[in-house]
Amino acid sequence: MPYPANELAIYIHWPFCKSKCPYCDFYKEVRKDVPQDEIIAQYLTDLQKYHKMTSDRTIKSVFFGGGTPSLIEPRNIEKILNKIQQLWPIKSNIEISLEANPNTHYQTLFSDLRLAGINRLSLGIQALNDDDLRFLGRSHDLATARKCLNEVIKTFDNHSVDLIYARPTQDIKQWQNELNEIVTYGLKHISLYQLTIEPNTVFARKNIKPLDDDNAVKMYNLTRNFLAQNGYEHYEVSNFAKHGFQSLHNLTYWQGGDYIGIGKSAHGRLKLNNRFITTVYPFIHEEISPQERAEELLIMGLRLTQGINLQEFENICGLPFYQCINKQKLQQLKELGLLHETDSHIYPTYDGMLLLNQIVVELCA
Ligand SMILES: C[S@@+](CC[C@H](N)C(=O)[O-])C[C@H]1O[C@@H](n2cnc3c(N)ncnc32)[C@H](O)[C@@H]1O
Ligand code: SF4
Repeated sequence: MPYPANELAIYIHWPFCKSKCPYCDFYKEVRKDVPQDEIIAQYLTDLQKYHKMTSDRTIKSVFFGGGTPSLIEPRNIEKILNKIQQLWPIKSNIEISLEANPNTHYQTLFSDLRLAGINRLSLGIQALNDDDLRFLGRSHDLATARKCLNEVIKTFDNHSVDLIYARPTQDIKQWQNELNEIVTYGLKHISLYQLTIEPNTVFARKNIKPLDDDNAVKMYNLTRNFLAQNGYEHYEVSNFAKHGFQSLHNLTYWQGGDYIGIGKSAHGRLKLNNRFITTVYPFIHEEISPQERAEELLIMGLRLTQGINLQEFENICGLPFYQCINKQKLQQLKELGLLHETDSHIYPTYDGMLLLNQIVVELCA
């Protein structure tokens, strides 16, 4: 099926948090007085500006990410969604997601968000025990996490949760307990990230060491096998979904679709008149070459278990896949059992998923 080039995804970044988590290197600010209405007014103007470049597109997804977008007042979410609807045609099955942090919970938060137009709620739980929530510097406890999970399941038909594992002192048994619990909620989607110690974070400054590789690999394999047994398809390195519930928005990034980014630090990718434009908010635009776009498609596409669709790759960047990679290295990676090739796709094997960074370096050599 040809990739729908007339579709567009919209990312709205809310860069404010109640507190800073010591592992996090996403762009965020902690401020007492956030001039929310002013910022939202600016977002509406910015949507209008981006519309001028993309008026022929249909919106397939909107994603409110952060930072902590559950700090946006629901009436402001509604304003943004109304504006988007005024400006562009909307796909009938549009996905409208919002990332919520349990530390912003109040009694009507989820029902208010649903009424405002959110149809997919992604909850940042991170850990399912109080000790590790404290270690991760989260300002919610396990009881609040569970309360939020139950409310989200009741309020939305489409939902997701984020957990971070491979914490320095975590053992396999403890992680298994958390997995046992998370599958009981009937969530449609689960994102499970291995803790990375990012430069310039509090964890890096405190010299916190990540879990050793052997145990991290054991936990990843346990995660993949256990979630498959529980009806979750592993479709991207860190993402698992019930059938039909992969994240449409995030697939745009991994499959090389177009998106715009609104809000400080948000970025975007647009193909306009066969030119490849990268955008950084507010309106810093840079053109990249087809080769550069091809490399991005390779890096992002191999994150998917279904891998890269060779025809789509060429449709998007205009270059045949085999012209963009080192064919000898591809052959070696196949012989090592790390990549698999069919007439239509190249994808990482079960073992290959563990070595994606090295695979990309080899293919681009
Ligand atoms: C930008 S955060 C947004 C979620 C929301 N702000 C929250 O914390 O609840 C997206 C997700 O990235 C993950 N994440 C952030 N930093 C990470 C790190 N250093 N290692 C692993 N996962 C991380 C967390 O699971 C987090 O929920
Ligand atoms: S993990 Fe979420 S809440 Fe914590 S600092 Fe990062 S963006 Fe903010």
